[in-house]
Amino acid sequence: MTQNVLILPGDGIGPEITAEAVKVLNKLVETDGLDICMEEDLVGGAAYDVHGVPLADATMDKAQAADAVLLGAVGGYKWESLDISVRPEKGLLRLRKEMGLFANLRPAFLYPQLASASTLKPEIVAGLDILIVRELTGGIYFGQPRGIRILENGERQGFNTYVYSESEVKRIAHVAFQAAMKRNKKLTSVDKANVLEVTEMWREVVNEVAKEYPEVEVKHMYVDNAAMQLVLNPKQFDVMVTGNMFGDILSDEASMLTGSIGMLASASLDANNKGMYEPSHGSAPDIASQNKANPLATILSAAMMLRYSLGREDLAIKIEEAVGKVLDQGLRTGDIWSEGCTRVTCSEMGDAVVAAL
Ligand code: IPM
Ligand code: MG
Repeated sequence: MTQNVLILPGDGIGPEITAEAVKVLNKLVETDGLDICMEEDLVGGAAYDVHGVPLADATMDKAQAADAVLLGAVGGYKWESLDISVRPEKGLLRLRKEMGLFANLRPAFLYPQLASASTLKPEIVAGLDILIVRELTGGIYFGQPRGIRILENGERQGFNTYVYSESEVKRIAHVAFQAAMKRNKKLTSVDKANVLEVTEMWREVVNEVAKEYPEVEVKHMYVDNAAMQLVLNPKQFDVMVTGNMFGDILSDEASMLTGSIGMLASASLDANNKGMYEPSHGSAPDIASQNKANPLATILSAAMMLRYSLGREDLAIKIEEAVGKVLDQGLRTGDIWSEGCTRVTCSEMGDAVVAAL
């Protein structure tokens, strides 16, 4: 049966990078019997400009009805002064929340060809393969109450609430333990249990869930230490599990170990593996519309989509191998370029991946 994929290019470099991922998917439709139907719609600032909101209800309905969503990126200078309730980012957050995409998988995998593109020494990052499991629909991103209020003395006070219920921690812990079981059976749970009660409870719940996975070696780490350990000795990590905000921060940090944030794919899944797939990077407005961006994170996100939501692990592997081949050929966008390599544009990179398929 034909599966429906909703493509949401978004803002900044979003349209350029998703166009390359669509090229790759179309190639698989032609040559490998991939049976999907793709439809495009607006999200973020692009949606705001047309509808006055960063995600129209009709688009939300399409996302709910689709088998998977592939998203580029949202946000840009143009929309920075808008009220926070209609900022481009709210479109993305609404999709995550209403689709119930609580489990965000962000693999930080170093292609051996890119060891010298990392800002860290090659011996520190060679062989790196970390999976960050970030809770995506709770924590301080969504906690109530939130806002900016006026105190009695007339001063403004901004406030957010960091909350997790036990069931929210449990379900993300299960996702992380199950992922660890398929990998090297090591899990690091990241918290700030020395200061924040919400993460003290997080730690207790992770320990309870751990009893169901006796083969997995569990460690707990404070987030400040985890940030340091990621640059000191990143290869100590296999799977890391953490809350929404810590995961946001640590996944950007981890991505740079792999050479560039332009390489980091992600999957956001609900309880039934329905998902939204997006590069972990942002909309990079400074290089938008210049055909310079690295489309590989989006292409690799399409691979994750084939793996987790569309039941085509074979084609996911095929894309990942094709990406390896273009890197072997020495092709590099600016963000991963180094001496002796060939600098290519965003669309040339997409064409090269299609050719390698
Ligand atoms: C990410 C992004 C988003 C987040 C923004 C764009 C809302 O940084 O996906 O990591 O904070 O989750
Ligand atoms: Mg982020």
